[in-house]
Amino acid sequence: ETIDLNGNLILPGFLDMHVHLRQPGFEAKETIETGTAAAARGGFTTVACMPNTRPVLDSPELIRYVYEKTAQEGSCTVLPYGAITKGELGEELTDIAGLKAAGVIGITDDGVGVQSSSLMREAMRTAAALDLPVVIHSEDEDLAKDGCMNEGVVSKRLGLPGIPGLAESAMIARDILLAEDTGAHLHVCHISDAASVELVRHAKSRGLKVTTEVTPHHLLLTEAIIDQTDASDANMKVNPPIRTEKDRLACLQGLLDGTIDMVATDHAPHTEEEKQRPFQTAPFGFVGLEIAFPLLYTELVQTGHLPLHELVKKFTVNPAQVFKLDRGSLTVGKVADLTVVDLDTERTITGEELKTKGRNTPFMGKTVQGWSVLTINQGRITYQGK
Ligand code: DOR
Ligand code: ZN
Ligand code: ZN
Ligand code: ZN
Repeated sequence: ETIDLNGNLILPGFLDMHVHLRQPGFEAKETIETGTAAAARGGFTTVACMPNTRPVLDSPELIRYVYEKTAQEGSCTVLPYGAITKGELGEELTDIAGLKAAGVIGITDDGVGVQSSSLMREAMRTAAALDLPVVIHSEDEDLAKDGCMNEGVVSKRLGLPGIPGLAESAMIARDILLAEDTGAHLHVCHISDAASVELVRHAKSRGLKVTTEVTPHHLLLTEAIIDQTDASDANMKVNPPIRTEKDRLACLQGLLDGTIDMVATDHAPHTEEEKQRPFQTAPFGFVGLEIAFPLLYTELVQTGHLPLHELVKKFTVNPAQVFKLDRGSLTVGKVADLTVVDLDTERTITGEELKTKGRNTPFMGKTVQGWSVLTINQGRITYQGK
């Protein structure tokens, strides 16, 4: 069979090191089948999935379940993270060596945060000995309390409880010190705050094994989106919250100067019913797999803020290097993981074409370009579109 690539760009298949596939337990939000189909449509050939499922991915059996389901129904490579604590309750460590033997690519607390410093220190010691990254949702729960958006001028005006940037940066500071103490590789999830970016920059300059990722929404939006919608639309609600223009620019600068290693979507599908709840009680999260590259291509590359090859690195070689994966480049003689991108055709983001079950994105209705038209995972066509 001959496929006409028609002047489009052939790139290594994208990697997204932070997605919520929701299976087992939350199949109304997403399944491995629908989440990986969305990944393939977005040009991704590898995704790393978070363990805040039900049951939580805290045992070798559940890691094997993810691999088996993916083999049956998946449209990309899925690499599961294991939970740091049993049930993500923050009380008792999981069998980290057993999880590693079952094939996890890291351990994480995403979904909750490990608040206990002694428990996190012990987890990092174990992970360091096993050469496993410790992937952290940095949030001090005591500072975050029951906040539902960024703490600042907008939350005050609207009278909504806020989550201060300090809830993130204070925890990152702790975890950097624990990583130094234990020799662990610390990977900071979804960085969103200016002080946090500075902490990671400083840790890297000291030679510590600290890496980080940023989401498209934290690179493109500010808390003003909530003001504009009267704070009634929970499709604007995410954790960490969308912060200020200063924070957004700090994330962009961090991406440019190498402080931030990669883009990750934090793809977090929820049902429409859940997102129709009042802002304060609706769940946090945005879907992102299908629109991440087009959004950043349109908003950062087309506008001259980031060269195309730098954006591509943030989706390919960088995540592969940080997580020591044999992926992210096109090498003669290797089985293909690639995506073909049409840089020119504009398309509007609507609900109908999405392969994810989630419709929860603040970018609905935006017209962007840079869509994948063909995705190949391990030599198999996993997406073909217009
Ligand atoms: O917005 C978020 N959604 N942030 C998280 O930390 C969890 C995630 C989810 O699982 O829905
Ligand atoms: Zn998180
Ligand atoms: Zn801030
Ligand atoms: Zn997450």
